[in-house]
Amino acid sequence: MTDSNFRHITVLLDEAVEGLAVRGDGRYMDGTFGRGGHSRLILQKLGPDGRLLGFDKDPLAIATGEALAAEDGRFVVVQRSFAELGEEAVVRGICGQVSGILLDLGVSSPQLDDPERGFSFLNDGPLDMRMNPDVGVSAADWIATAAEDEIARVLKDYGEERFAKRMARAVVQRRAEQPFTRTADLAQVLTVANPAWEKGKNPATRAFQGIRIHVNNELGDLERGLEAALETLEVGGRLVVISFHSLEDRIVKQFMKRQAKGEADKLPRDLPIIPKAFEPRLKLIGKPVYAAEAELKANPRSRSAVMRIAEKLR
Ligand SMILES: C[S@@+](CC[C@H](N)C(=O)[O-])C[C@H]1O[C@@H](n2cnc3c(N)ncnc32)[C@H](O)[C@@H]1O
Repeated sequence: MTDSNFRHITVLLDEAVEGLAVRGDGRYMDGTFGRGGHSRLILQKLGPDGRLLGFDKDPLAIATGEALAAEDGRFVVVQRSFAELGEEAVVRGICGQVSGILLDLGVSSPQLDDPERGFSFLNDGPLDMRMNPDVGVSAADWIATAAEDEIARVLKDYGEERFAKRMARAVVQRRAEQPFTRTADLAQVLTVANPAWEKGKNPATRAFQGIRIHVNNELGDLERGLEAALETLEVGGRLVVISFHSLEDRIVKQFMKRQAKGEADKLPRDLPIIPKAFEPRLKLIGKPVYAAEAELKANPRSRSAVMRIAEKLR
């Protein structure tokens, strides 16, 4: 597997690294290394005593990360989900000592653009969609075995597809005759089952998004990753998260809001002091950040990006 033909243009590069407020001697985590766009800029800002730990599930991202680690002794990369960044911090003895954590969510352009990875409804390839093709269940295996109502739920909940039920029925009818093994074949069946094509959008887009999110447990990992990040940061440490669709952003927004509000409202009103355990754990930094005009022009993928920043209070 090689992807030297596929590039990833980093979204909100300067804004995200600025949001981390990098300290020269700090320890940082890039939970979504990808092709290392953010990581390289973080390393530029770090001094000789600074450290950066990268995570990615994807073997090609890890290969790029290992090449970077060979050049720069301040950087290490691990093939692990950022959902497990707390466990990684414990093993490395840095729990509660990390100065900043970045999550740039979702898939990279090389994953989407290389038909062999099986994410693309535009270019035919094996129906896989796993960020790490060595673990878990491929899209083909899931489609072959999932119940019709489970398929419908995934298309509706994770793809926000209005015609999820019809599409699930079409998929189940077709798989009884012949299993799905290729992305173009699945895209074709979904396209025919979709009665309302939207202008400028492939009729299989939402369904493919839903299947991808399900196969990679993206929302479950995000929830675990946010909780783990809060424990792993030091007081004053920054959490920076870039989301690419409303399902992700809702989880990030609600998590940050909840932690910034604390739980004092669960206490009796006349309590003279608020116990520490009920005080806020995060402070929101600024408003949500969107790509500026120049980036929107240069990189259409940045159109859906929204970045939120918070700082750990306790
Ligand atoms: C949008 S790209 C990141 C791009 C990166 N910031 C850059 O500038 O090159 C997302 C990356 O995160 C990885 N990824 C997504 N979810 C992950 C998770 N739960 N744990 C680890 N890596 C994940 C994907 O494999 C992909 O390489």
